[in-house]
Amino acid sequence: MAEGHRTIARQIAQEHLQAGDSLGWFEDLYIRAGEEPSIIPWADLKQNPNLIDWLDQNRFQVSGRALTIGCGLGDDAEELARRGFTTTAFDISESAIMWSRRRFPQSSVPYVVADLLSAPVDWVAMFDFVLESYTLQVLPSDLWPDAVRYISSFVAPGGILLVIARGREPNEPEGMMP
Ligand SMILES: C[S@@+](CC[C@H](N)C(=O)[O-])C[C@H]1O[C@@H](n2cnc3c(N)ncnc32)[C@H](O)[C@@H]1O
Repeated sequence: MAEGHRTIARQIAQEHLQAGDSLGWFEDLYIRAGEEPSIIPWADLKQNPNLIDWLDQNRFQVSGRALTIGCGLGDDAEELARRGFTTTAFDISESAIMWSRRRFPQSSVPYVVADLLSAPVDWVAMFDFVLESYTLQVLPSDLWPDAVRYISSFVAPGGILLVIARGREPNEPEGMMP
């Protein structure tokens, strides 16, 4: 992605965070993008290769209902549906959800606008496979305890939670995105 576009995302995030609004920048960024994916730093328009690797290696262990948290533009949710999961996907950004629906008009996936931190109660213990990729780590750290509690609450007894995050060594810079 062009550095100029990354700068736009960073500025929008910083404006909201400095105003004490932890979550509003996502919708603002998606609106600003106007369905131009290069503006969204994480919008690769393809499935996460780590998810693909994990699913290929654990093919016979997972099935049933799946949930993708902070689904962005829907590629991972579509992959789970393609592999036979009854998949639900949600994101806090209405624009991201509308964009996903437009990208995949024939999809079986219900794309839902929801905040992880006030998610529908009937999702508790409902999903055999829950995918969280890169959302937790873009939230301010004071939200992590509640976010983790919610994320794990969606997993059915015996189900699997797959968390994909970018890592860095302690001596590496934190990077410019939140
Ligand atoms: C870094 S992006 C990752 C998107 C996608 N999971 C991926 O791997 O490409 C984080 C996503 O989580 C969404 N998000 C952020 N906070 C959220 C919340 N509290 N509830 C639901 N979605 C949230 C954002 O709108 C954004 O689409």
